[in-house]
Amino acid sequence: MLQRLADAQTGDITDLIDTHRYPLHDCDAPELKALIEHARAALAEDGCCLLKDFLRPEALRAACEQGQSLSGKTFYSVRKVNAYFTEDDPALPNDDPRRTFMERTSGFVTRDMIAPDTVMQRLYVSPMMKRFIAACLGEAQIYEYADPFAGLVMNVLPEGTQQPWHFDTNEFIVSMMTQKPLGGGEFEYAPMIRTRTEENLGAVGRTVRGEDRSRVKVLTLNPGDLQIFKGRFSVHRVTPVEGPRERHTAIFAYSEKPGIIGRAQRTLQLYGRLSEAHLLAEQRLVRSDALID
Ligand SMILES: [Fe+2]
Repeated sequence: MLQRLADAQTGDITDLIDTHRYPLHDCDAPELKALIEHARAALAEDGCCLLKDFLRPEALRAACEQGQSLSGKTFYSVRKVNAYFTEDDPALPNDDPRRTFMERTSGFVTRDMIAPDTVMQRLYVSPMMKRFIAACLGEAQIYEYADPFAGLVMNVLPEGTQQPWHFDTNEFIVSMMTQKPLGGGEFEYAPMIRTRTEENLGAVGRTVRGEDRSRVKVLTLNPGDLQIFKGRFSVHRVTPVEGPRERHTAIFAYSEKPGIIGRAQRTLQLYGRLSEAHLLAEQRLVRSDALID
């Protein structure tokens, strides 16, 4: 069989996904329409949609092995962060969630290190995948990030590491676990705890301080499940991993506009380095004149 590579033009991924349950290739299939309806309802109600066993078993095995061989390239940066990734502000009251700082200890393998023949890279760029995710979100079209590092990453959590409570900066995220730890590493979220117009600081504060678990849902994720999550409105975390087996998750970042490149400061914090694309994007932001060079 010909080796298949990530391809944004045709990108057939029917050899990777369970097309019986998820006929992404067949736009007219009633099963696909029902699936999109189900996803839209789940996202509207809960901000979260879980599509179980999205991958074929052999593709999942390959994805798991590819994740294991990449994990040595993980960049870790331990940082104290609040749920909003903002600096501390002593003028705020102590029970404001912006004053609760927690340790982020997980690491990332960036897109530039993930080969074009891997399961994750093929899924990420595939037009079938983008069309399907866009439909679930009610968007006309979604795009890959232009960012050379951040569009597709693998999040790696060895024993004792965690993702503390936070809101995402992007509206939605698509992810897939490829390796489950022996214990811990649970995904917890407080569905739609804030809206576009209401921060709901009191409830967010009680949740991130662990005083109130009433809004918290625990989602059991398994390798090969695809998760679509509106992390901008639902504060969420991954609890500390227990045991020697790492937790590996591929994160697919898409946006409603093409050409998105992350800010230099945040890129440095997360990935420890910059690409020329980041440097140029930053220069364009700084320059305010309209002169010809
Ligand atoms: Fe997140």
